[in-house]
Amino acid sequence: MGKRRTLLLLVLILFSTLLASVDGRREREDEESERKTQGEKWFLLRHLHDVVKTDAGTLRLVKGGYRRGSFLHSPMHIGFVSMEPNSLFIPQYLDSNLVLFVHHGEARVGHIYKDELAERKLKRGDVYTIPAGSAFYLENIVENQRLHIICSIDITSESMGWNAYQPFFIGGGIYPASILAGFDHTTLSTALNVSITELSTFLTRQTSGPIVHLSGSQNTSIWSSFLAQEHRQRLAHLKRIVNFEEEASPKEEEPITWSLRKFLFTLLNREDVIERVNHKAPSTYNLYNKKPNFKNDYGWSKKVDESDYSPLKQSGNGVYLVNLSPGSMVAPHVNPTAIEYGIVLKGTGRIQIVYPNGTLAMNARVREGDIFWVPRYFPFCQIASTNGPFEFFGFTTSARRNHQQFLVGKNSLMQSLRGPEFAAAFGIGEKRLKRIANAQREQVILPSSSATHQEKFDRMTRDFD
Ligand SMILES: *[C@@H]1O[C@H](CO)[C@@H](O)[C@H](O)[C@H]1NC(C)=O
Ligand SMILES: *[C@@H]1O[C@H](CO)[C@@H](O)[C@H](O)[C@H]1NC(C)=O
Ligand SMILES: *[C@@H]1O[C@H](CO)[C@@H](O)[C@H](O)[C@H]1NC(C)=O
Repeated sequence: MGKRRTLLLLVLILFSTLLASVDGRREREDEESERKTQGEKWFLLRHLHDVVKTDAGTLRLVKGGYRRGSFLHSPMHIGFVSMEPNSLFIPQYLDSNLVLFVHHGEARVGHIYKDELAERKLKRGDVYTIPAGSAFYLENIVENQRLHIICSIDITSESMGWNAYQPFFIGGGIYPASILAGFDHTTLSTALNVSITELSTFLTRQTSGPIVHLSGSQNTSIWSSFLAQEHRQRLAHLKRIVNFEEEASPKEEEPITWSLRKFLFTLLNREDVIERVNHKAPSTYNLYNKKPNFKNDYGWSKKVDESDYSPLKQSGNGVYLVNLSPGSMVAPHVNPTAIEYGIVLKGTGRIQIVYPNGTLAMNARVREGDIFWVPRYFPFCQIASTNGPFEFFGFTTSARRNHQQFLVGKNSLMQSLRGPEFAAAFGIGEKRLKRIANAQREQVILPSSSATHQEKFDRMTRDFD
């Protein structure tokens, strides 16, 4: 009963806000004033920081955590990886789970999965997860094409919280420093069973940053010859190194040997694992190939949770993609179990978010590349501009099925709560409430306000007077 009353209150609050904000006349006013609400500062994530920037690529982040002057905690960083053709994000592990989404281009990701080295090719639309503490590298394998990846980096209780992005580079040298470099060199030379001279060569070769060019481009790095090989060759190569066989490669390529030996011994620490590559590691999941969970004349939405793709269980995240036709909107709704992050991929639109006290927190115009987030329980809706389709992708903080609670539309609380209490809550008669609740015949994704809707609205408001 208490739950029902809360919902009732929520709907009541929302309904009044909606009447004010969704109708066309008000929107025109908004366009004139475009006032920056406090909410815009909180819920639009406009401050991207370069955390990695080299000739070969960048990693840019919007940071989660507490927003300035706000009680709201955002539990995720959103990262944008951009890599030039033929480049490598060198082996590292993070103190947080990663969910990768390939927005553009193709990638090869290598990572340690249950003590095995797994490699996966990722294409446009693919989702892949890398658990915290699992070493991985990323490679742009396509000539003449940049790679763009959008990723979520969760803030777990185990995260150190020193930085938004805390990499532990396994490979490295002068820049970035390898985590191995921190050990006392005598200790390390004993541990690796190499001379101090060899050790210092191997720890000082890398100077071009965490994202490096590979051979084929004008710039080559110590990683080139390793990654340039076919997978099978590479594994054979790795195996040779693990078995301490002499390399038939020129002298100047020695650092590769040592990087790999280090890579293997610190992470795999076994020889036989090389044989069993790619057996159990999860496959990728393509979001673009998925059938929509909901579709009507006004748009579609797709959601991927752990029931579709079990690796999401580990990170505890969900992924979604929504496409709205011009002027359409996702019906006002609430996420009762998840915080939601959205990244605009195509077109322009508006995001409206409502505070618990029934005031408009934000009515922001967004375009490609903009990032927004919506705290759990906060009512919100997304509206496409009339000049084209509006597509956005995002992450949620729940890998379980996130049952969105719709406040408006045929499948909404407006319908399920319809009754004398609800009418009384609005201070109107049941008949009038019924007329209002039934006026919208669509659900989930609603059509734009056309002339007939405007008439209907006018009629409705006249009835109120
Ligand atoms: C260290 O290297 C030497 C020569 O390369 C080899 O004979 C020796 O067995 C190695 N020691 C260990 C513990 O691997
Ligand atoms: C390779 O890149 C580094 C910086 O990333 C630069 O200093 C160096 O001159 C480049 N070498 C070539 C051959 O282009
Ligand atoms: C509603 O809540 C927001 C956020 O706490 C606050 O900034 C705003 O002043 C409140 N508005 C009213 C009318 O209470």
